[in-house]
Amino acid sequence: DFATRVTDSGKTDTALRGDYRHVQPDFTIDQGWDAYSSADHALWRTLYDRQSALLPRYAAREFLEGLTRLDVRDGIPDFRRASDVLDRATGWILVAVPGLIPEREFFEHLAARRFPVTNWIRKPEEMDYLVEPDVFHDFFGHVPLLTHPVFADYLQAYGIGGAKAIALNGQEHLARLYWYMVEFGLINTKDGLRAYGAGMLSSRGETQFCIESPSPHRIGFDLERVMRTQYRIDDYQQTYFVLDSYEQLMNATAVDFTPLYARLRSLPAIGPTEVLASDRVFTLGTQGESHKAA
Ligand code: PHE
Ligand code: FE
Repeated sequence: DFATRVTDSGKTDTALRGDYRHVQPDFTIDQGWDAYSSADHALWRTLYDRQSALLPRYAAREFLEGLTRLDVRDGIPDFRRASDVLDRATGWILVAVPGLIPEREFFEHLAARRFPVTNWIRKPEEMDYLVEPDVFHDFFGHVPLLTHPVFADYLQAYGIGGAKAIALNGQEHLARLYWYMVEFGLINTKDGLRAYGAGMLSSRGETQFCIESPSPHRIGFDLERVMRTQYRIDDYQQTYFVLDSYEQLMNATAVDFTPLYARLRSLPAIGPTEVLASDRVFTLGTQGESHKAA
């Protein structure tokens, strides 16, 4: 049941906001670019300007370079035009969807280097927080890094791994890897920690929080550690995991997960604020700040 897909918004009821009446069997739709109002485009520009002003201080260089290359500051992007840019960069294209889609179809799109992007935009009163991903989260958050060759290859490998996880009943563990490393990943650079995850980079509050706040833990990436760690979906993260490079993520996940899923089943989950003796701690959080996102 796709409403229980937890890799993105964690929404668990079936009352999804998009219009699913005209979906193809693979859950894609026409973007309907001509139907956006001038208010929709203006809202995109406001979100874009606000967020891009923060990025030089907080975002990974590769994300910024991808965003610049996409050239989408003027309004909600036409996915066909953006797909041309992306295809030239890494061979990925974008497909429009009405919102969250079933896990199996989501994985199939990624495995074929198609990134599903929600076509609708949030309401003005939802500038700072919304429950389901919209076009701003999906596009602004996820697409820039898809211009990066290693990250682009990683996300395809993740999609291929998804079908296998379903067969091995490893979806919950695999979903944590998506959550922590695709939605909320940090990377260690010579200028300090930087954000590259879509979840924080599409949120004004969390973009600053994930780098500046003394509250969350920031812990070096370890595959099994990440896959054991529970997360919260209704607030800023209490723990972020830090990559040394995108290659590190690619290499660590290149192994066969079959024995890993078996082992993970016998290991207890780790709470979102726990720190282990084996952790490589970048910053030990106070867990003191009110994280509330909205
Ligand atoms: N290597 C994983 C497997 O064998 C697949 C995978 C790749 C999962 C990349 C996540 C990320 O199942
Ligand atoms: Fe997302």
